Amino acid sequence: MTGKYGKLQRFSTLSTWFSTLHTQVSTYPPRYPLYIERMKLMEHTFSHVSVLLNECIEALNIDPNGIYVDCTLGGGGHSLEIVKRLEGGKLICIDQDICAIEAASERLKEYKDKIIFVKNNFSNFSGILAELGIEKVDGALLDLGVSSYQLDTPERGFSYNTEAPLDMRMNETAALSAYDVVNTYSEDDLRRIIFTYGEDNNAGRIASAIVKARAEKPIGTTTELVDIIKSVTPKKMLAVGHHPAKKAFQAIRIEVNSELSIIEPTLKAIAYHLNPKGRIAVITFHSLEDRAAKHTFADLATGCTCPPSYPVCVCGKKPTVKLINKKPILPSAEELEYNHRSHSAKLRIVEKMPSEA
Ligand SMILES: C[S@@+](CC[C@H](N)C(=O)[O-])C[C@H]1O[C@@H](n2cnc3c(N)ncnc32)[C@H](O)[C@@H]1O
Repeated sequence: MTGKYGKLQRFSTLSTWFSTLHTQVSTYPPRYPLYIERMKLMEHTFSHVSVLLNECIEALNIDPNGIYVDCTLGGGGHSLEIVKRLEGGKLICIDQDICAIEAASERLKEYKDKIIFVKNNFSNFSGILAELGIEKVDGALLDLGVSSYQLDTPERGFSYNTEAPLDMRMNETAALSAYDVVNTYSEDDLRRIIFTYGEDNNAGRIASAIVKARAEKPIGTTTELVDIIKSVTPKKMLAVGHHPAKKAFQAIRIEVNSELSIIEPTLKAIAYHLNPKGRIAVITFHSLEDRAAKHTFADLATGCTCPPSYPVCVCGKKPTVKLINKKPILPSAEELEYNHRSHSAKLRIVEKMPSEA
């Protein structure tokens, strides 16, 4: 291959190196109602209904000969729609969860010549591109958080609804698990995490109850943790609204997977590696994620930050991107109806400025 994508000749070897091809699930029907029917039959396989699918594809403004990165492969639903639109282009599919790589490799096998699967953390975006000998890409998608498969697989320990070991690692080889957070963090750190990442006003009581319970014996399972949380949840909160453990579980999951701290540096790294007019689309699922994406994009889109009293610019800051949508794109009423998971989703899009190539 020559020209703009000359380096892609290296893909055949690298793709063999990165790819893992095992059978878990066959190609999904593309229409949602059919997809949902099929999911009911596939309880033990990888199932995840892609959120804001059409909106993301539109957002990426795909060049059939471009290089795209799906930073959060998951079940491969977004990747499938991206790769279908490629002719000479390539798609790099990243996920830190080996189960996602395996299932999506099978689902996308028809397009395997156009895809490179990479099991890694997207926070290593620059390193991943360097390994592949790629300097610039034409678009990247991040569909943040966990997949339905991860949530619905009890052994992964993400769910407060099923008994499982306290785990919550998206990367099964990561050192830190929910067990470590719950059993070794100080009461202050637990309170801070549950309050900050879970926005849970009951954080103080939960942290203190965890520390008291683990003094008797280590807290080993999701249900033990749920019972501890329930024991300090005011009765009126038990009766209404969300599950009392929802926010604390979200907080511990965010801590285990360092989900928030990597958003800003990753978006900045991606922006650096975009070709002019290349785009980043990011879907967030809670206010903390959305705030991180919004502020990072605002910073990237801001030029000179010198005080207005300065006669000339001394900071030299130039906008790297422009915002494609000032307000986030939300799921349609139709999508909300068939995919409950989409209810908190927000899509933000930026485009690389021509002058920053
Ligand atoms: C919401 S799902 C993506 C679903 C996918 N877009 C689809 O259509 O099927 C998020 C996926 O991103 C992965 N993930 C989350 N954070 C990650 C990170 N920092 N690095 C790599 N993968 C990550 C998770 O393991 C999960 O499989």
